[in-house]
Amino acid sequence: MILLTGGAGYIALHTAAVLIETGHDVVLFDNFCNSKPLAVERLAAIVGRPVPCVQGDVRSRTDLDGLFDQYSIDAVIHFAGLKAVGESAAEPLRYYDNNVGGSLVLLEAMQQAEVRRIVFSSSACVYGEPDASPIPESAALRPANVYGRTKLMVEEILRDLQLAAPGWSVALLRYFNPVGAHPSGLIGEDPNGVPNNLMPFVTQVAVGRRPQLQVFGGDYPTPDGSGVRDYIHVMDLADGHRAALDWALRDPREVLTANLGTGQGYSVLDLVRSFEQASGRAIPYRIVARRAGDVAAYWGDPLLARQRLGWTARRTLEDMCRDSWNWQSRNPQGFA
Ligand code: NAD
Ligand code: UD1
Repeated sequence: MILLTGGAGYIALHTAAVLIETGHDVVLFDNFCNSKPLAVERLAAIVGRPVPCVQGDVRSRTDLDGLFDQYSIDAVIHFAGLKAVGESAAEPLRYYDNNVGGSLVLLEAMQQAEVRRIVFSSSACVYGEPDASPIPESAALRPANVYGRTKLMVEEILRDLQLAAPGWSVALLRYFNPVGAHPSGLIGEDPNGVPNNLMPFVTQVAVGRRPQLQVFGGDYPTPDGSGVRDYIHVMDLADGHRAALDWALRDPREVLTANLGTGQGYSVLDLVRSFEQASGRAIPYRIVARRAGDVAAYWGDPLLARQRLGWTARRTLEDMCRDSWNWQSRNPQGFA
């Protein structure tokens, strides 16, 4: 049985769908601070059977001990965390408590339960502003915000733990920019309030919930002046978790740090054009000032994940746009 903390969230739901379809049993664990129980019902509809989901908090040792008593867990994929960069600057203690404190409590409960295989949701933001792209895993780590520092701290805690207790197998997955949705259109990204990220903003404009996209910066040193990122389809990301989990289940007893990206950068305007084609909807936009803290361009080097995990992203920007639109057009108000 595989435990997915933060299991009702965007990336975990898609990962659960892939894991169940490849023969794994999963249990989801979530406090629903940024997700809804309906999402778990949708997952069940996709896989054709109920998916066990326990409500609880990774900061609660009582909740976790109960979970490890109830289920025989072979490995954990630790998705639970808060992820809004701006909010992390305004509420640093909440972010350190939830992301770092929650990870510590989880690791203590795992140690107690003798579960020593973990796949951790890290982020490309541990690199901060890179010297060059594509970014290899060996690049300097200098996160530029609180959220990124919480991710780097948990990476370091896991490295220290594995040094002290070599029986552990640890995969640190640094995601680039996840977008897209399950092809069924039953699950997808459903942010609360005004989306911070580009794709959910674009899909909400397309569905009429917002009048216009603001393109943050048209004067970057990029081919069209807008910011460039490594967008990755969430189903490819889910498949990367399956590969990392299979690696951990072989008990390699080491720490593996891998980028999960496509290795390809696209600009904001590339994404808007591709989305317009995929959806048949016009996306009105206005180029405005740069967003504070944004980097002009970065994308990941995906070679290590290919060599060590046998995993490569396969889906195109067109696939990402089509599936994001399929989800949003079928669910204009998300899971509401
Ligand atoms: P999400 O918010 O959809 O999912 C996170 C889930 O964790 C939510 O369901 C939330 O309710 C749950 N959660 C949060 N704190 C919890 C706690 N203390 N106890 C139990 N459950 C808790 O986000 P996501 O996009 O699916 O991201 C999953 C993970 O991947 C996060 O750790 C995030 O930081 C990381 N990540 C996300 C992105 C991205 O762009 N989406 C990029 C890089 C890394
Ligand atoms: C942000 C987070 C990063 C996180 C990632 C994916 C920062 C500094 N980093 O990255 O930690 O891993 O999301 O969740 O915030 N854009 C617009 N208009 C919008 C929204 C975005 O033009 O309304 C542009 C941005 O300027 C950027 C690109 O779109 O060039 C992507 O933005 P976004 O989706 O927020 O992701 P990142 O900034 O790359």
